[in-house]
Amino acid sequence: MCKTAGSCQGCLHYVFDYETPKTLVIPNIRVGCVFRFTQLLVVLYVVGYVCVVQKAYQDTDSVISTVTTKVKGFAFTNTSDIGPHLWDVAEYVIPPQGDHSFFVLTNMVVTPEQTQSRCPELPNPSTTCVDDCDCIEGHSDPRGNGIQTGLCENYSTTVKTCEVLSWCPHEVDTKLRALMSAAENFTVLIKNSITYPKFNVHRRNILPHINSSYLKMCEFNRTSDPDCPIFRLKHIVAEAGEDFQDMAVKGGILGILIDWSCDLDWWAKKCFPKYSFRRLDNKHPVNNVAPGYNFRFAKYYKKPDGEETRMLIKAFGIRFNVIVFGTGGKFAIVPTIVNLGAALSFLSLVSRNIESCIQKRNNTGNL
Ligand SMILES: *[C@@H]1O[C@H](CO)[C@@H](O)[C@H](O)[C@H]1NC(C)=O
Repeated sequence: MCKTAGSCQGCLHYVFDYETPKTLVIPNIRVGCVFRFTQLLVVLYVVGYVCVVQKAYQDTDSVISTVTTKVKGFAFTNTSDIGPHLWDVAEYVIPPQGDHSFFVLTNMVVTPEQTQSRCPELPNPSTTCVDDCDCIEGHSDPRGNGIQTGLCENYSTTVKTCEVLSWCPHEVDTKLRALMSAAENFTVLIKNSITYPKFNVHRRNILPHINSSYLKMCEFNRTSDPDCPIFRLKHIVAEAGEDFQDMAVKGGILGILIDWSCDLDWWAKKCFPKYSFRRLDNKHPVNNVAPGYNFRFAKYYKKPDGEETRMLIKAFGIRFNVIVFGTGGKFAIVPTIVNLGAALSFLSLVSRNIESCIQKRNNTGNL
């Protein structure tokens, strides 16, 4: 377009022209009401939602945390296979270290006096046999108990199964139960320290007003002792909506959630842990195949004659996972300006829209 110097001047004036909208005053009650009402809505949205609910004037940081746990309590069992036995922390908390995730043994299948020897497999369709030809020497089934020796032996008077080299006798997990129902009265002390590194804020769940004599006797209760960091296992499970004795049989996973969402402004100074509990493993009423949580471990002994024996324990129990989460917020100038700007542009949008609305109506002549 701008081919000559003369017409270029004509071009430039578009660049340097200053435009201003013409202000239109409309003395109309209805239009005025609509305008003010819409403005009010925007102001309510900005004040109510953006400022109070979303706290858009704050800068945020997510929590960094560490957890240690200590379980206490005793249980006494008296079963035919291991006799009377007192269980203390060193036996029923696995691993003993007291991490953010700890396991409490509540039920077990004990197979005492296992030795490395040969014995017939537990009967099932793939292990039963008629004679030695049905058993392959050296074959091992991952779901079985050992390596086949190639012999077919009597498991009972009526059933013959392939003999295996393994830890004998095999575990029969339908009997020899030792249910530790007393585990419901065990307590756990949870120590949790958190940091909001951006704001240099440090807190712990043992609040400043808690002294050691209170800590020795308190127990968490949402109404009477909401600050006590010692929890009775039964209480945790009950608040998660489960029955402890029910869960103790097959085991399960339970979450202890600690919410550290904090408003760190000086006028709010609210920074306390909020505890909640929920069951984390699937407990589907219909699809209830392979429920609970269990694993096996063994204690090894040596007999006087030097033979190694072990006690195999299939352990059922509740694993507690302490999950810490939260966001800290504090007043900061940058998010305040950004959100204020957004809010103001909203307000100007309101008057702009009403103006154009009126102009449209004026043009069609029915205002
Ligand atoms: C747990 O303790 C309560 C009293 O504190 C008692 O009544 C209850 O029998 C105990 N539970 C078990 C399984 O021992």
